[in-house]
Amino acid sequence: MKKMDEENRFLSLLKEAQVVAVYCNQWGDTGKGKFSDYFSEWADIIARGTGGNNAGHTVVVGGKQRIFHLLPAGIAYDSLGKINILGKGMVIDPKVLVEEIDDVKRDGINCEHLMVSRDAHVIMDYHINLDKARNQSQKNSGIGSTGRGVGPCYSDKIARRGVRIFEFLNENLLKDKIEVAKNFYPGQEINAEKIIRETRGYADRIRPYVKDTDLELQELLRRGKKLLIEGAQGLLLSIEHGTYPYVTSSDCSLNGMASGVGVSAKKIDVALGILKFPFMTRVGGGPFPTELGGVKSEKYCSEDGHGEENELKVYGKDNILGMINSKDSFEQGVGIRLATEEYGATTGRPRRIGWVDAVSAKYAVGINGPLLVLTKADAIAGAKEFKICYGYKNKDGKTISNFSSDCDFLRNVEPEYKTYEGYGDISKIRKFSELPNSLKDAIKDLEEFTGGHVVIVSVGAERDATIIR
Ligand code: IMO
Ligand code: MG
Repeated sequence: MKKMDEENRFLSLLKEAQVVAVYCNQWGDTGKGKFSDYFSEWADIIARGTGGNNAGHTVVVGGKQRIFHLLPAGIAYDSLGKINILGKGMVIDPKVLVEEIDDVKRDGINCEHLMVSRDAHVIMDYHINLDKARNQSQKNSGIGSTGRGVGPCYSDKIARRGVRIFEFLNENLLKDKIEVAKNFYPGQEINAEKIIRETRGYADRIRPYVKDTDLELQELLRRGKKLLIEGAQGLLLSIEHGTYPYVTSSDCSLNGMASGVGVSAKKIDVALGILKFPFMTRVGGGPFPTELGGVKSEKYCSEDGHGEENELKVYGKDNILGMINSKDSFEQGVGIRLATEEYGATTGRPRRIGWVDAVSAKYAVGINGPLLVLTKADAIAGAKEFKICYGYKNKDGKTISNFSSDCDFLRNVEPEYKTYEGYGDISKIRKFSELPNSLKDAIKDLEEFTGGHVVIVSVGAERDATIIR
């Protein structure tokens, strides 16, 4: 009886909800694309409020893989009249937006119900140039940004000199803004006339979509329409809560996302935090206590030339499981990366691999709320064992069970693991009760340790490979 109640609880929660949010509770790339697509069927409006084309959201629909960088995954439902919104908290590269619109139009998605906030900030070429130049000089211990201009654009926003979409659409206002920017990008030749000439075409293309999305959204919500907020990046990359300075430049927590689409987080009825489980990833620089292969892996993943093609060439396809079960943790990491194709959807970089850090998950539950979605558990089928970290041993040999965003602290702790027995193929399972016992044990431990509650387990990229608990 108790189990029935549990199984129904999430679905009845969803039935009564008007606003749902999906977001990542780790360092990004946990499957927001899949779940944004999943809940787009339920929603009338799908909105994003943070980040820009640093995101790469992979969705598999009807066997076809698609990667969205700016458009919410809900754009696939445009022909059903669903409204997709790029909210005011986003930073938008107009060229990338136009390309993405053209790209989905080729597949018959006409973007007739797309809205772009007039107040979102515009990524200019001088932002991108600066972002790339910084990455070069920081190659060895730098943040390793995606090089899309996101950081410099948000810097200008905070410094109150950024270009908003409505200014981008008005050449007089844009000219004034660029004249100001000249003072802050001394190494670059910035010519307002030239920039305006070169970007005019993009401005014309996005003009029809530009709206006061705050007002539109308030009105739609008043009429009872259902809203899905699609997160970008992840809590541990948040400028407020993440491993600063190894973070992105927006607050990608639940509060930040809500703010970025123009609603109060209090309006969110169902907030779903996604965790990869039982392994997790990080792309770019920064501390990662449970990283398999430790600093060796971090250095290796920051070097050029270790993309998927190269790793397949070096390590081959035939011994991936052998590598996952290797005694050498660096090799184990490479094995998991190859098995689950953990390469950046935006940059192609190898993602760093480690076992799930429940200490950071507890931190995320505390900030973002208790409901959890687990993804990718199917990917390590055949591993003899897996581990979850429930504590950090510090320099004095003391066990610490709370996360801190202090990078120096995180770099100097040793994870304390509990080891669980591995399992085989789970991709065809559709009932929580049928999952392997060791995985269920680990989920129970995770829930007890973090105070979270796992409501969904994903066992594959396709939408039906989903277990609702
Ligand atoms: P999605 O939405 C994973 C990381 C970068 C870098 C840091 C700062 O696909 O999960 P930025 O370009 O934002 O200034 O880079 O943040 N990063 C991501 N990592 N997934 C993402 O997005 C990311 N967006 C940014 O690798 O370490
Ligand atoms: Mg991604």
